[in-house]
Amino acid sequence: MPRLAAKLDRISPFYVMELVKRAAALEAQGQDIVHMSIGEPDFTAIAPVQAAAEAALRAGKSRYTPAVGIPMLREAIAAFQSQRFGVAVDPARIIVTAGASGALQLACTALLDPGAEVLMADPAYPCNRHFVTAAGGMATLVPTSPEDRFQLTAEQVCEHWSARTAGVIVASPSNPTGTSIAPEALADLVREVRRRDGFAIVDEIYLGLSYDSPRRSAAALGEDVILVNSFSKYFHMTGWRLGWLVVPPALVSAFEKLAQNLVICPSAIAQHAALACFTPEAQAEFEARREAFRARRDYLLPEFERLGLHVPVKPDGAFYIYADVSQHAPDSNKLAYRLLEQAGVCAVPGMDFGHAAPERYLRFSYANSLERLQEAVARMGQFFGR
Ligand SMILES: Cc1ncc(COP(=O)(O)O)c(C=O)c1O
Repeated sequence: MPRLAAKLDRISPFYVMELVKRAAALEAQGQDIVHMSIGEPDFTAIAPVQAAAEAALRAGKSRYTPAVGIPMLREAIAAFQSQRFGVAVDPARIIVTAGASGALQLACTALLDPGAEVLMADPAYPCNRHFVTAAGGMATLVPTSPEDRFQLTAEQVCEHWSARTAGVIVASPSNPTGTSIAPEALADLVREVRRRDGFAIVDEIYLGLSYDSPRRSAAALGEDVILVNSFSKYFHMTGWRLGWLVVPPALVSAFEKLAQNLVICPSAIAQHAALACFTPEAQAEFEARREAFRARRDYLLPEFERLGLHVPVKPDGAFYIYADVSQHAPDSNKLAYRLLEQAGVCAVPGMDFGHAAPERYLRFSYANSLERLQEAVARMGQFFGR
């Protein structure tokens, strides 16, 4: 057998997949399961996007595009950044990618030498550390606390920065906690990174889905901050595989060279379809869907407290609630299985997101209809005896 690269040993599986397989087996036996495990909007691409994809297909717009994306889409994204997130960005700095995943892979490949370390919050979206590993680097997970909204702080950057550290990855709002970093805290953190000549990547995939504060992009902090975003969440286009990077002007041509070599270009049809996301009507639909997510969060939070599922920081974005389940059980992984088997509710154990007290937490996704979430609450009420 060919030998695998040693770094593959450092890439862990998604533990929740076993739980999801078990959920599928129970469903096959006729049991009804409420899925609160999936990090994917229950809405699909809006009708104008579907129509634009059909039209592009028929018009033969399916050939390779520029590696950085078609000019019209880069311009539309730049205008969106400025209208929605309050900071003007030169379209020349936009690089269209295959989702935020493609953006993070490109950035890690471009920025990391073998053995370079990258600081990130624990808990965090697990793929972020694996993008670093796949690019030959090492993720340094820094345990965060509810007091800091589960986000990395400037002090932690100073404390954990080593001679091998190349930069930081911040996700705001975060997966799995749905909490964003305070603007001043991010500014302080970026200042410390800058002082050390490092890079700051800010994953803003959930910024469009923020509920309580103005949606301000980290682009406001300066052109050296590298931004990641996606059509997967706010635009509900998960399987279309489309996202983007905003990179410092001086790095655009290097990133472009790498993208040409690694992927040639992002999906042409998806790019042409995505142009339909930026009309006022489309934007109104996305905002209405955002309101639907907010309503689900506002319904769930008090119910969770009633159920003894303590939420230490109010999530202000994304569609996740990271609940402390330690009142009910010492091991959230075992609890997740019991919740699935006995209540028919599927949630993700904290162990998928890092090493900082994962046994205390379950991540619940509210990317499911309000009716199904009400059903989940009723079942958990019975299960927990509340
Ligand atoms: C924080 C975060 N970053 C990046 C991604 C990757 O998303 P995509 O590649 O679909 O844009 C996800 C997906 O769930 C995520 O939660």
